[in-house]
Amino acid sequence: MTKLTFVGIDETRFEVEAEPGSTVMENAIRNGVPGIEAECGGACACATCHVYVDDDWADAVGGPEPMEEDMLDFAYDVRPTSRLSCQIKVKPEFDGLVVHIPERQG
Ligand code: FES
Repeated sequence: MTKLTFVGIDETRFEVEAEPGSTVMENAIRNGVPGIEAECGGACACATCHVYVDDDWADAVGGPEPMEEDMLDFAYDVRPTSRLSCQIKVKPEFDGLVVHIPERQG
């Protein structure tokens, strides 16, 4: 299992155990992490699963694919480390990954 941490806007931390191969979004939904809506169910078509990858993890996780980048245009307050969490597949080497939830989602 891979440990993921979601940090809310009030700095509340949600630590979850993720199955490699699942997406970061799926783990947020399964654990009821507030601020991740995922209205399209992971089809890269809604941008309500927007997160900021923690600076320490930005290189390891990498940037968005072109389709994801297009959809990120619809997200609020996009930053250099913005990703759609449904497009981040959990890998064993992401153990300890930290992502931040944007202030306003959707
Ligand atoms: Fe809709 Fe990620 S869940 S874009």
